[in-house]
Amino acid sequence: MKPLSRVLIGGLLILAWPSAHAVDGQKIFTQGGQNPAAMACLGCHGPDGKGIAAAGFPRLAGLPAGYLAKQLRDFREGDRRQAVMEPLAKALDDAEIDAVSHYLATLAADGAPDLRRQQIAPDATTRLALYGDWSRQIPGCVQCHGPGGSGVGEHFPPLAGQPATYLAAQLNAWRDGSRRNDPNQLMVNVAKAMTDAEVKAIAEYFAQQGSQEAKP
Ligand code: HEC
Ligand code: HEC
Repeated sequence: MKPLSRVLIGGLLILAWPSAHAVDGQKIFTQGGQNPAAMACLGCHGPDGKGIAAAGFPRLAGLPAGYLAKQLRDFREGDRRQAVMEPLAKALDDAEIDAVSHYLATLAADGAPDLRRQQIAPDATTRLALYGDWSRQIPGCVQCHGPGGSGVGEHFPPLAGQPATYLAAQLNAWRDGSRRNDPNQLMVNVAKAMTDAEVKAIAEYFAQQGSQEAKP
């Protein structure tokens, strides 16, 4: 064999390496990553990945893989500062991040929010969620996060059914700059225009969407 073709074949083997050694996303979820600092996710995010509302641990089940992988890289790179997830994400390599994100995206999420309840906006919080407040340049949350806050595509995560404390913590993280990973500062501007009372109320509003009673 000529040296050049040997080099080419060697190159192809290196390219084929990741798929030949596919990382098991389910194993990372249930047992943790290669590095012991990457603890199993289920301990905090729940055995079904649906989160632990009482502790403020968010649901990961059924979230888009692209969004999850981005968040893990953002924690790793410091664009999203949070004491628990930062060291965990730093202990995961790229292949592990992709594998566990794809696994989580396949897990069942809770039922979609009952949209019939969304048609009327009886109070200020519902109006903010549905229509926003253009006098402060706040678009309605559902205009990006989808009907009932159920999420849209890879970039707009669901809000429905996430713990209220978690949602409020994220809005406050954008306000104080500890989370600065939103594309085009879409969330920073929204969060900074809101009052403390609105942050609390809107977090409770979306936490209640898509709860058990709204299941088909
Ligand atoms: C010791 C508890 C704990 C463990 C273990 C843990 N997490 Fe988390 N995770 C959290 C907390 C707390 C948050 C909320 C962080 C915040 O407020 O920004 C979170 C947030 C996240 C988010 C962001 C969700 C969103 O909607 O933006 C992702 C993604 C995530 N975790 C993935 C994982 C993965 C993958 C594992 C396993 C390798 C894991 N977590 C293990 C506690 C944990
Ligand atoms: C112009 C589009 C847009 C609007 C309007 C918008 N969001 Fe967002 N929101 C985003 C994007 C994009 C992200 C994901 C950022 C990232 O990649 O980390 C996000 C993320 C979030 C998160 C974090 C979710 C998680 O799982 O960590 C919360 C909470 C949130 N938005 C709340 C709201 C609320 C409440 C409103 C209405 C007051 C709102 N958003 C309006 C675009 C928008």
